[in-house]
Amino acid sequence: MSNLNKNDLPTLLVTGGAGFIGANFVLQVRKFKWANIVNLDKLTYASNLQNLAELQDDTNYYFIQGDVNNSELLSYLLEKYQPDAIINFAAETHVDRSIISPHNFIQTNIVGTFELLEASKAYWQKLTSPKKEKFRFLHISTDEVYGSLSSTDPAFREDTPYAPNSPYSASKAAADHLVRSYYHTYNLPTLTTNCSNNYGPLQFPEKLIPLTILNALNGKSLPIYGDGQNIRDWLYVRDHCDAIYLVLIEGCIGETYNICGMNEQTNLVVVEKICAILDKLAPKDNFQYSSLISFIKDRPGHDRRYGIDCSKISKNLGWKPKENFDVGLLKTVQWYLNNSAWVDSVCTGTYQGWIKQNYETR
Ligand code: NAD
Ligand code: TYD
Repeated sequence: MSNLNKNDLPTLLVTGGAGFIGANFVLQVRKFKWANIVNLDKLTYASNLQNLAELQDDTNYYFIQGDVNNSELLSYLLEKYQPDAIINFAAETHVDRSIISPHNFIQTNIVGTFELLEASKAYWQKLTSPKKEKFRFLHISTDEVYGSLSSTDPAFREDTPYAPNSPYSASKAAADHLVRSYYHTYNLPTLTTNCSNNYGPLQFPEKLIPLTILNALNGKSLPIYGDGQNIRDWLYVRDHCDAIYLVLIEGCIGETYNICGMNEQTNLVVVEKICAILDKLAPKDNFQYSSLISFIKDRPGHDRRYGIDCSKISKNLGWKPKENFDVGLLKTVQWYLNNSAWVDSVCTGTYQGWIKQNYETR
């Protein structure tokens, strides 16, 4: 089976490319001229076209607003752009929202992935050699499908049984199973990556790290669920984008790859580190940002620990994360400080409504 070759300048159909990881990926791909990009995104609350403003005059980048559930649109785009690969980032992604209103998670993450698989299969089956052999369907998933670890459990491996605990992780698990089934049943050349928590520029401030940075700058309390001892493995988004591209080009079809940050931290430590950075970058007289920390009612079904073993991608494809957490966090805080127009544009009334719903009624 031949692989995609980056020297051929492939065309990638990317879904969800106006969100956090998708936009970082699209920017990285176009910066290094790895591929042409067709970006299909519904533009939900979590997206932001400003993320991609620098591609405005890029003639090898195309944006289409649309839903992965729209099968007619998918078939049309596949026929029109004849992509060499599809990367599925599109998803509803916030666990707390999945607890309050799971419906969209089922529709986009499960049904939407199914529609994309169906359209991809029909397109791929009509391709001829060598494009057919090189075609790839890369599905972006999460370590949350594996469930929760105790402090002494070994980290998740690719063969760890799935045990999702939130509507979000259950919907991602279902999508992963569908992707797997399209490989085994129809030979669709799929790849799946399961990564840990990402952080970095462009993340919507409903997630822990940007929420903490912006709340701190606004003098608001820094909400920590439960005892703050839950552990996540933090992965710098640009390291993740490198890994995705490597799996696309060199991954073995039908396989899944875990992508880790090699950086397990408790939530309390993450928040304290952000406070210490802000004490230096945005100091206030006689004030320490950590004084804003507030322990609040826990998230239902809150997974205690995620830890991810990424020896497979490291051994087979030679990838490991490059960013040091303290440096990555410093760059991230600096990015939010430098991009107040971006911050203002996402902290709209809808965002304030979510903050009220999730935190004030807890
Ligand atoms: P995000 O919420 O920032 O962005 C999701 C994007 O998908 C948005 O641009 C949104 O408009 C788009 N989208 C949503 N529904 C759509 C639909 N029906 N049709 C087309 N587009 C739609 O998400 P993210 O953090 O960038 O995550 C990207 C992918 O990575 C997701 O599949 C997520 O499950 C996975 N992931 C994320 C993390 C993380 O830490 N952020 C960790 C592990 C896995
Ligand atoms: P989050 O960024 O929502 O990612 P995920 O739930 O997908 O891991 O949350 C990261 C961790 O931070 C998680 O353990 C929940 C916790 N958390 C808080 O303690 N307070 C908050 O306000 C948020 C949003 C998350």
